[in-house]
Amino acid sequence: MRLFVTGGAGYIGSHAVRRFREAGHEPWVYDNLSTGHRGAVADFPLFVGDLGDEQTLTSALSSTQFDAVVHFAGAALVAESIREPLHYFAQNTSRGVTLLTAMHRQGINRLVMSSTCTVYGQPPGDMVREDSPLAPINPYARSKLALEWCVADCAAAFGLGAVVLRYFNAAGAHQRGDLGEDHTPETHLIPNALRVALGQEQCVHVCGTDYPTPDGTCLRDYVHVEDLAEAHLLALEQIVPGRSVACNLGSGSPHSVQEVIEQCRRVTGISIPAQLSPRRPGDAASLFADTRRARELLGWEPRYSSLDNIVASAWAWHSRHPAGYGEPQHSPITFP
Ligand SMILES: NC(=O)c1ccc[n+]([C@@H]2O[C@H](COP(=O)([O-])OP(=O)(O)OC[C@H]3O[C@@H](n4cnc5c(N)ncnc54)[C@H](O)[C@@H]3O)[C@@H](O)[C@H]2O)c1
Repeated sequence: MRLFVTGGAGYIGSHAVRRFREAGHEPWVYDNLSTGHRGAVADFPLFVGDLGDEQTLTSALSSTQFDAVVHFAGAALVAESIREPLHYFAQNTSRGVTLLTAMHRQGINRLVMSSTCTVYGQPPGDMVREDSPLAPINPYARSKLALEWCVADCAAAFGLGAVVLRYFNAAGAHQRGDLGEDHTPETHLIPNALRVALGQEQCVHVCGTDYPTPDGTCLRDYVHVEDLAEAHLLALEQIVPGRSVACNLGSGSPHSVQEVIEQCRRVTGISIPAQLSPRRPGDAASLFADTRRARELLGWEPRYSSLDNIVASAWAWHSRHPAGYGEPQHSPITFP
């Protein structure tokens, strides 16, 4: 398939793009490089453009015959979304609608889309299924869920076929050691702990130590970025016109914040001081995936998602690339 991959220069997108090519597909990347990196997709066709720029998007989408769209592009910082909700609805919802409109005009009706476990909010139980209540508690999650609903409505109205993938905590790096996570600011636990090990930060922050969990810190489900890439490949084969189906992607095994930091200490052999601080608003105590649907529908089986492998692969990337892709940082987004 010839694939139009939005956000393909980002962390998860770049791993997926590589996997698509390995499987014999032809991925073309569309990315504004706001948080992505040219170096992550150096061997792939890249359109540099913003999804909000209808003209550039339409000319890219119509430049050749695409069989499907894989949509990773978006803004994904929860705290920023609370301060800047309009930016999040513009980035994740409106620009998603612009993409769907352009796809519809071009007659492209196959979509795989990134969504997030945050659409479930703070569920009463801790293991969530796709039919668990959707109760997002921050603008980031609501902006993603709004696009999920739009996709489902398009499936009903004009036959769009979509697989919506709700990731839990993406982590790790490519086994070859040349693709990995490079975000500024970095908000994810594992890269932040590893930056302390590299001497780039003083300590890692543990937000909340009084949760009703065995060690008092939050429990989360970490899934290896290469397992996510594989799920996108499998999802492309399961698109059915007129159907939009959501699948959780997680390892199904929860790990506490303390446990993850301990694993980072073991893998690096460095002490990694932690600073304990109060809970952050909006963090659920425990959230992990029931992944039966992804296994049954997609035939997906996570291979790389043990905590040991996640941290070891992330450390291989960060220790060999302490400055990430080494590209100049983009100016921070300014809001009107
Ligand atoms: N990383 C996670 O743990 C996680 C968890 C759940 C869901 N997600 C979702 O997965 C997707 C990818 O996440 P990631 O961690 O790879 O993020 P990322 O920031 O590394 O990648 C996003 C990519 O999209 C591009 N982009 C952003 N806005 C754009 C726009 N308007 N037009 C064109 N390109 C644009 C960026 O330059 C970047 O390359 C996002 O949609 C995110 O919400 C991520």
